[in-house]
Amino acid sequence: MKVSLKACDVVIFGGVGDLAMRKLLPALYHLDMDGLLAPTTRVVGASRRDMSNKEYQDKVREALDEFVPSSVGDEKTWPRFKERLSYVTVDAQQESDFSRLNDHNIGGEDRDVVFYLATSPDLFGSICSSLAVHGLNAPRMRVVLEKPLGRDLMSSRAINDEVMKNFTEQQAFRIDHYLGKETVQNLLAIRFGNTLFEPLWDSAHIDNVQITVSETVGVEGRWGYYDKAGAMRDMVQNHLIQLLCLVAMEPPGRMDADSVRDEKIKVLKALRPITGANAYTKTVRGQYAKGMINGKEVMGYFDDEDSNPDSRTETFVALRADIDNWRWAGVPFYLRTGKRLGQRYSEIVIQYKAVPHSIFSDESNRQLQRNQLIIRLQPEEKISLTVMNKVPGASEGMNLQPVDLNLSLTEAFNNRRSPEAYERLLLDVMRNDATLFMRYDEVEAAWKWVDGIMSAWSQTSERPKEYASGSWGPAASMALPIKDGRNWHDY
Ligand code: BG6
Repeated sequence: MKVSLKACDVVIFGGVGDLAMRKLLPALYHLDMDGLLAPTTRVVGASRRDMSNKEYQDKVREALDEFVPSSVGDEKTWPRFKERLSYVTVDAQQESDFSRLNDHNIGGEDRDVVFYLATSPDLFGSICSSLAVHGLNAPRMRVVLEKPLGRDLMSSRAINDEVMKNFTEQQAFRIDHYLGKETVQNLLAIRFGNTLFEPLWDSAHIDNVQITVSETVGVEGRWGYYDKAGAMRDMVQNHLIQLLCLVAMEPPGRMDADSVRDEKIKVLKALRPITGANAYTKTVRGQYAKGMINGKEVMGYFDDEDSNPDSRTETFVALRADIDNWRWAGVPFYLRTGKRLGQRYSEIVIQYKAVPHSIFSDESNRQLQRNQLIIRLQPEEKISLTVMNKVPGASEGMNLQPVDLNLSLTEAFNNRRSPEAYERLLLDVMRNDATLFMRYDEVEAAWKWVDGIMSAWSQTSERPKEYASGSWGPAASMALPIKDGRNWHDY
């Protein structure tokens, strides 16, 4: 990592919320541990609740005990990190409260400021306008906007327009934490740091691409939020589409924010719309029922006490996307994501075409397996390439079997700690590098595509298909690639 030790005030709106406690503060703590925060950098929690600095520090300590167990008893980083922590009571809807940020000397002595809006997007506009009223929108001040930015194209535009009244595009960092994952960045390294893959990265050599983000967790505890979103808005519109863009984009001229984003937007614009009747042949929606995960019985979507039995919100989506350009014509991109599936894992599979003619005529070699490049994001970070090999032994003749060439990132880099996505992204905002953040035109193009599908869904009385928790989603999802003579890659 390039290190920037420029002093900065990181102000977290929603500073006592779940995201702050689970992800943001642990990430900042790790950055401090790795020596990546300037000595005078401050971390300031802001929310409606009345709380003293000491109470906030205690709360953060509790969160670290839970989410960074290795930090328990830490005598080195914690005392320093604790000194950085303070708290300001700000009701995001009370403009006058924002004067307390000035009283707290936010941005004083020309420090850069990162305002992290870990709040509901409905508040983004009013927070940004109150910051501006109090002079807290100078060019060295940036806002980080958590997803989801709206629930469709219209609402996302409305929110974005509000933010843009007081901050410029250069100051707005729209975060998608999937882009901060190490293996996702490694995908760029693999594609553009080697001569090996790029010449074979097109419809002449690749048969299909599969992107799976499978979770075992349900929506427990956040039914109310989730039911308004669903898997399409919560995962596909951002995480899965961003992964698709990185796989499909042309090589950017440089690794900088606009060059990368200019290439991603071309992919988004080339996505073939899925509308009307196409939505039934190209997408599958599901809702989880009860079932077994890791030997434990778990409840269904409608067993949650807040649930509404009429809900048609999908907890699973599988779809076939097509990219209408020269490089990808005829190559399906199969995407799927869901809650309460059999295994927690995320991966991108590049499935190459079969050899044009097999010279190996034995019975056992008729079905030569195709090469596959698998980029696994989680649970483990690894990249593997399946190639056909001869089984050793004279008596074996020319018997071929697939063998995986595995690159385990943890082993290759001597078990070096792999940073969490938010560490990398927070550091990038502090050093003002927006390469791994979304420009608004990308968000807009992704919403346009997703809106088409959702509007087709809303015109039918069909409900999402039920699937048992612990399965791989509705049977129709299995059938999606089979209709095209293909299969999902098994975990
Ligand atoms: C979030 C979604 O953006 O990503 C959650 O809102 C989801 O519903 C989460 O669980 C998954 O992230 P990760 O990094 O655990 O795969």
